[in-house]
Amino acid sequence: MKIAPSILAANFKNLQEEIKLVEEFGDIVHLDIMDGHFVPNISFGFPIVKAVREMTNLPLDAHLMIENPEKYIERFIDFGVNMISVHIENNYHINKVINNIKTKGVLAGIAINPGTSIYSLDSILKDIDFILIMSVNPGFSGQKFIESSIEKIKKIVNIKNEMGLNFEIEVDGGLNYEIALKLKEIGVNICVFGDYFFKNKRENLYILRNLIWKKN
Ligand code: DX5
Ligand code: ZN
Repeated sequence: MKIAPSILAANFKNLQEEIKLVEEFGDIVHLDIMDGHFVPNISFGFPIVKAVREMTNLPLDAHLMIENPEKYIERFIDFGVNMISVHIENNYHINKVINNIKTKGVLAGIAINPGTSIYSLDSILKDIDFILIMSVNPGFSGQKFIESSIEKIKKIVNIKNEMGLNFEIEVDGGLNYEIALKLKEIGVNICVFGDYFFKNKRENLYILRNLIWKKN
């Protein structure tokens, strides 16, 4: 399982140091892009993505919580992101968007809110590289993990196995060490950590890194 710290919870006064922390204890940089329309918060955009790309060679994972994501995909790719997830909820041409991302050589994912049924994904699962399951309502870091997400994740793992598919499963929102251990057992491949990563003690990051996962 991989660790994907979300820099939404990082200290932007010291972003370079925060990215070094991700390099030390994480595998992927998770970028939460919010537009104040799809979610009730605005985060950051291209200048920060560009700066982060210049700071690290780790894979960049852009989680687009924005209206009309298809308009911006090429620019995210030009800025060097390696994974892009778009939400199913506001996307009426999801197959087209997913295929567009994939043809540019970037991993394509579908993100799904806590209130959205997994059965809305049936027809798209075979085309995606990963699914991002939100375990809080998107918009802010530091929220509490929604317990019913566990059942939903188990269902996705079952569907994946039954269909014989290879997409990765990423879980995002309210995670900590204990929840992540559970998710690992269930078969989750990527855990996003905001507050737990950036507002924690270094020794706990060692524990997260060394006891749950072995780097590479
Ligand atoms: C929420 C974001 C998450 C969030 C994670 O909209 O997608 O990535 O920042 O932060 P924590 O782990 O603090 O919930
Ligand atoms: Zn996210």
